[in-house]
Amino acid sequence: TAQLNRVAQAAGKLYFGTATNIEELSDAAYAAIINNRTEFGQITAANVMKWDSTEPSRGVFTFGAGDQIAALAKKNNQLLRGHNCVWHQQLPSWVTAGHFDAPTLSSIVSTHCSTLVGHYKGQIWDVINECLNDDGTFRQSVFFDTLNTSFIATALRAARAADPQAKLYINDFNIEGQGPKSTAMVNLVKSLQAQKVPIDGIGIQAHLIVGGVPPTFLANLKQFTALGVEVAITELDVRMTLPVTDALLAQQRRDYQTVISACQAVKGCIGVTVWDFSDKFSWVPGAFAGQGAACPWDENMIRKPAIDGIIAGF
Ligand code: XIL
Repeated sequence: TAQLNRVAQAAGKLYFGTATNIEELSDAAYAAIINNRTEFGQITAANVMKWDSTEPSRGVFTFGAGDQIAALAKKNNQLLRGHNCVWHQQLPSWVTAGHFDAPTLSSIVSTHCSTLVGHYKGQIWDVINECLNDDGTFRQSVFFDTLNTSFIATALRAARAADPQAKLYINDFNIEGQGPKSTAMVNLVKSLQAQKVPIDGIGIQAHLIVGGVPPTFLANLKQFTALGVEVAITELDVRMTLPVTDALLAQQRRDYQTVISACQAVKGCIGVTVWDFSDKFSWVPGAFAGQGAACPWDENMIRKPAIDGIIAGF
């Protein structure tokens, strides 16, 4: 079958991409696929650009692992999505247990974002990750608890100052369909725009369940792009309760197609990233007990029906 990035680009999208981890690259069959630019035109570091990897103690920045991912993308002429600057998870304890006052934490956020975005220039960045709850309120975190929502503007402004060319995103899950959380995202972007805070895009993670693509997915993409920002599908996978059956794989194929065709129908949807492409390295079994088989390639690097769905969607 056809290669995914080639198909996506022929359809007018910027890229089809995947998340990855360094240790996965020693699997030769896996590496052969990810190093093929016609298959993947964009790479996201699944872990090594997060705060615990990049600033393990205050003011000490460690880019060795992130640089390996950046070098892989560069060697293959693939775009890089930086993931991420500010998130409530995978934080070092000096941040979570630091008991910083508001001005100090604000300056810590600013330094972290500007150093990251300045180090990996010219990229697309998930500056803010998962700042909302499902009911549309802001998520509790060391950042929100100390700074209320101001950390969002602080992070975005620091990122813009560090690299005026970078595309700055807010990324979240459960904003695929319309509902309180998507409405909150719309309101957040509007309020940032009203304050002239730089914001270029909304990242829609799309960690989905077989048969569970929200019917309002397309309408929601249109609602987001109507704000004047771009959108990207940033972490797509479609998990199922194991064991795998032909019927589940057939539904998964339809689900992948539904997501891709919604992105394809909206000009401001720039590209799609899967949250790793092989079931061998998916985060799903570790995060959702009894579930898996969420990716387009199986654990033996064999293409699943999902790939035909992706191709049909573009
Ligand atoms: C996941 C990684 O894939 C795992 O390896 C790690 O143990 C936990 O984080 N939303 C995100 C990603 O924004 O950063 C998460 O990645 C998956 C959910």
